[in-house]
Amino acid sequence: MAGRIPREFIDHLLAKVDIVDVIHGRVPLKKHGREYMACCPFHSEKTPSFTVSPNKQFYHCFGCGVHGSAISFLMEYENLDYIEAIELLARSQGLEIPYEQTKGNKASTATTQKAQLDTYALMEQVAKFYQQQLPQAPKAQDYLAQREVSAELIERFQLGYAPEGWDILSKAFPQQTALLIEGGVQIKNDKGRYYDRFRERLMFPIRDRQGRVIGFGGRVLGEGTPKYLNSPETPLFHKGRELYGFYEARQQIRQLERLIVVEGYMDVIALAQFGINYAVATLGTATTSEHIQRLFKTVSEVIFCFDGDRAGKQAAWRALETCLPELRDDREVRFLFLPQGDDPDSLVRKIGTEAFEGLYSSALSLTDYLLEDLKMRFNLGNREGRAQLLDTALGLLGQMPELLLKEQLFNELSKLTGVEVAIIRNSRSLPNTPIPNSYEGAKDQAVKQGIKRTPLRLVIAGLLYEPSLIKHMMNPEQLVRFPLPGIDLLLTLIEIIEEQPHIVTAGLVERLRNTEYEPHLAKALTWLNHPVELAMLEQEFIDSIQQVVRQGMERQLEQLVHRAQTSELTTQEQHDLSSLLAARHRAK
Ligand code: UTP
Ligand code: MN
Repeated sequence: MAGRIPREFIDHLLAKVDIVDVIHGRVPLKKHGREYMACCPFHSEKTPSFTVSPNKQFYHCFGCGVHGSAISFLMEYENLDYIEAIELLARSQGLEIPYEQTKGNKASTATTQKAQLDTYALMEQVAKFYQQQLPQAPKAQDYLAQREVSAELIERFQLGYAPEGWDILSKAFPQQTALLIEGGVQIKNDKGRYYDRFRERLMFPIRDRQGRVIGFGGRVLGEGTPKYLNSPETPLFHKGRELYGFYEARQQIRQLERLIVVEGYMDVIALAQFGINYAVATLGTATTSEHIQRLFKTVSEVIFCFDGDRAGKQAAWRALETCLPELRDDREVRFLFLPQGDDPDSLVRKIGTEAFEGLYSSALSLTDYLLEDLKMRFNLGNREGRAQLLDTALGLLGQMPELLLKEQLFNELSKLTGVEVAIIRNSRSLPNTPIPNSYEGAKDQAVKQGIKRTPLRLVIAGLLYEPSLIKHMMNPEQLVRFPLPGIDLLLTLIEIIEEQPHIVTAGLVERLRNTEYEPHLAKALTWLNHPVELAMLEQEFIDSIQQVVRQGMERQLEQLVHRAQTSELTTQEQHDLSSLLAARHRAK
């Protein structure tokens, strides 16, 4: 069986492939300055707005907003999954993929194996360390008490506390710096100094299926941004694969029959506290096919539980799409939408275990959800609406294996649209039409109307578009303190570019695939609505950094002033406050 594809191989592959060749073989391109153009293969248009940049190894359509690397192009155009797209690309280059064996790890050398073992051991110790800090941190204990988390659950999920300070871990684990970095709990700045990723946060260790600690989520106590900070992708930790609470569920229930997938760490814990020991959460990312495969390896019944708001619906629809290829006649997928304003944590505390489990009977089956959504989106009152519904449905059904369930859907679609079953069964939806959904439409609109251009978004977009602009960045240690939404993504970008100074746009985007940042990339990239001259971009980038610093300092100042009114400031905070006040004074 094939194992995982090493990240280095993907980097190497992307460096070797030329995206222009990959696309030109499928969609004829015309040279246009430094870029190439064509009519977009992903939406219908008469004047070309699909551009391909050989420098960035990236394509982008100004019309519909699709963009990505050679890998994403093949996924979209050839309807492949991620692995298949990489395999196809590798074959075209005559490269053999050095799969990593998932078990036993034969592929890796003895030394890296040892380093990995050391990292696992250290992560375990770091989790223990955070755990030991908890009894000494009244703030954290008060917070847990206020959220009514019981001692038993604190113990079972090994909750801990990362104290304030920048180098707590270096002190607790001297001479282990390399492993602390490898484990993602410390960050190296450009001056070569190390600092702790998690400070003053409630810590949720994330364990793999074998119970080994591979990463952390850290929550601020009370208000503040980001609410949760998560470990970055590391050799041990891949968000697109892991499910929070999976190990703990297995420990509680030997014979798991169903799993409920929720959105948050606290949801998993609250449900467990109420005896619902079969909840897992994705780690701030969309549900991936790896998640689904993993779920179905263990159980045959999966209930997705989402908030009833727009974001919840959008996440649910993505989960539905991801489930389609994994459906079997003996597998059951249901969707439970919670009342507006509630999440599983708040709801189970309100209504109790029995009523919560009682909600499952009202959950929509996958096919019901699919049909309901289509009926809502298209007008069944006229022929055009029915045809559109059918076309969209066929696109979705095309992803499903041949199942009895699919036959049933053909029947239902026939009843809905008045088109004969035989015709439906034998039609294939138009090739290469991306599957539209109601939320995509909304997204396009947001793109056209323009999402708010904040300086931070411009800085992110600039780095994505032209990673060499990093030379204008300042010390991330200053950035890390700015309470600005998006600062996390910026720090991650900086980290990747520092590690790989020659990376291009396509490489960056691939690195962030399946991470919590993926949706934000699309937003940031919509700024680049026109091919920009580097000199202009550079000036705008420098200006934006200055604005980010100004905004960041203002926000940090506001936050500190506010905090000073309600609680005692730490020495570090007092120091920050007076230097921020001095800076403001100078600026006047
Ligand atoms: P929520 O904001 O719904 O989390 O985000 P929650 O668990 O309900 O949070 P609280 O503690 O009750 O307020 C759901 C999940 O999304 C990820 C986390 O994994 C979180 O559990 N997330 C959320 C982040 O990674 N970062 C964030 O800033 C927010
Ligand atoms: Mn919550």
